[in-house]
Amino acid sequence: MSDESRPTPAQSPVAAVIPAAGRGVRLGPGAPKALRALNGTPMLIHAVRALAASRHVSLVVVVAPPEGTAEVKSLLDAHALPERTDFLVVSGGESRQESVRLGLDALPPEYGVVLVHDAARPLVPVDTVDGVIEAVRDGAPAVVPALPLADTVKEVEPAAVAGDPEPVVATPRRDRLRAVQTPQGFDRATLVRAHEEVTDDVTDDASMVERLGLTVVAVPGHEEAFKVTRPLDLVLAEAVLARRRLNDGF
Ligand code: CTP
Ligand code: MG
Repeated sequence: MSDESRPTPAQSPVAAVIPAAGRGVRLGPGAPKALRALNGTPMLIHAVRALAASRHVSLVVVVAPPEGTAEVKSLLDAHALPERTDFLVVSGGESRQESVRLGLDALPPEYGVVLVHDAARPLVPVDTVDGVIEAVRDGAPAVVPALPLADTVKEVEPAAVAGDPEPVVATPRRDRLRAVQTPQGFDRATLVRAHEEVTDDVTDDASMVERLGLTVVAVPGHEEAFKVTRPLDLVLAEAVLARRRLNDGF
């Protein structure tokens, strides 16, 4: 499709790329993190459902652990997902960045808006997803859901040996800082260009767009969009699911 015939973000269908190819080293030994269960259902399935809950999202691309691609395909077949949503499974890479790029490579041409969402954030509410989509459709090339910080943050001179005292070099004003979550939303052409041109190591997709000199905007995130990283986060995720069940009247 030529640039002229590609739909503008305002009209375009939305695809979600879900990087799920990480091992989950910080979670401890066991299956790849995205395949670990929360209340009996794999984290990845929760994450796919969370994105597919948005009526704007018509394609979900799951980037699976290379040795787990067949298992991920059969999991998606086995769990009920909305009729309106299509699914693709591709094999991931060595780094998160590479996994996201492999997901982008698999996108059909008609998708002009792309969300990138960590499988490790299985409980993101649909209102957060829709808030990100709305800001991209309103014209922002890149959008991040973000929350104010509870802790004060210090910049330090990292010690050569872990655990040694580290000199504090600065304290940024907390009221100007935000903790950034996913899904992050993009004008597709912008994110593809960022992945082609930016080679630095980054920890999120939006920072690649910042390096292109483009404006990234933050919209409200949600505490339930937290990332499952360490064992205690599994306890918190299951508690959130239990609270939702109670509130839903089960
Ligand atoms: N991810 C990926 N491909 C990689 C590394 C990470 O798709 N090579 C994905 C993870 O599956 C996860 C998301 O990127 O959904 C965020 O990464 P993180 O929370 O760091 O997960 P892991 O890398 O699996 O965890 P750890 O760093 O503890 O090993
Ligand atoms: Mg990681």
